[in-house]
Amino acid sequence: MPANKDDGGWKQFVWNSEKGEFLGRTGGSWFKILLFYVIFYGCLAGIFIGTIQALLLTLSNFKPTWQDRVAPPGLTHFPRSDKSEVSFNLNDVETYVPYTKALKEFLAKYDEESQRDQLKFEDCGEDPSEYKNRGDLESDIGIRKACRFSKTVLGPCSGIEDREFGFKDGKPCLIVKLNRIVNFRPRPPSTNDSIPEEAQPKVQPNVIPIYCTNKKEEDAGKIGEIKYYGIGGGFPLQYYPYYGKLLHPHYLQPLVALQFTNLTMNTELRIECKVFGDNIHYSEKDRYQGRFDIKIQVNSL
Ligand SMILES: *[C@@H]1O[C@H](CO)[C@@H](O)[C@H](O)[C@H]1NC(C)=O
Ligand SMILES: *[C@@H]1O[C@H](CO)[C@@H](O)[C@H](O)[C@H]1NC(C)=O
Repeated sequence: MPANKDDGGWKQFVWNSEKGEFLGRTGGSWFKILLFYVIFYGCLAGIFIGTIQALLLTLSNFKPTWQDRVAPPGLTHFPRSDKSEVSFNLNDVETYVPYTKALKEFLAKYDEESQRDQLKFEDCGEDPSEYKNRGDLESDIGIRKACRFSKTVLGPCSGIEDREFGFKDGKPCLIVKLNRIVNFRPRPPSTNDSIPEEAQPKVQPNVIPIYCTNKKEEDAGKIGEIKYYGIGGGFPLQYYPYYGKLLHPHYLQPLVALQFTNLTMNTELRIECKVFGDNIHYSEKDRYQGRFDIKIQVNSL
């Protein structure tokens, strides 16, 4: 911009009335610049919206395509506790009330009264049987019925007769469930090869077996007998697949109760429980994938 005689040079630069220029450009030139930016950002927004739309289209309403909790499933136990530790004195109610309370709370949703509705629940048999097909995940049948699960299956760990779940007698119960995964069909082991010898008798058709044992060599023989209560002593296949929160809102996971009937007292014991199946794997990183381990100490002094 050539300097003018007076200080009108700056003003002239902002608005040059002779040439019809604004900030040194003509209206047409400004219009082109504006047009360029409108088109440029318009395209950018278009690409962005298109990408989001495409992503949403691939996500079906019900099937979690992008879930990170894919098979194999985690194994969860109750009572849950800090550092996976259950430690109590059988002569001191206060020390085990938190555990029995947690078990009662967890089992509340398995109450018989809440499973009465014939439109929401059905009986699926007291013995293990085949997967229950409730139609395609994508089909329009809508909400699927859930299998009832009766607490009585859990025997002395049901909390019905023994409100203390064995804790008072130093024979504590744990309740175990396999975490739900939409459309997952756990497959029982097809061979006995990869299964500890003591667990092999638990392999039977239509059930995912669970087996617990001492985690540390030095605890061998100190764990005593573990009793397993549940349909087929494991996770029966008729409760699978699970159709997800929207299609299967009343779904109840099958449970297995473990009762440690002859633990060595006043000793910290490490116990590991595992489920076995062809599509159930374990991971170094995730200690709860297909297994868990827990420290149990029952004090009697
Ligand atoms: C595994 O072993 C148990 C007992 O030894 C037996 O009853 C069961 O049939 C075996 N299962 C398979 C799949 O080999
Ligand atoms: C309990 O375990 C001890 C060994 O720790 C054993 O001597 C005893 O026979 C067991 N009792 C029962 C009822 O199994």
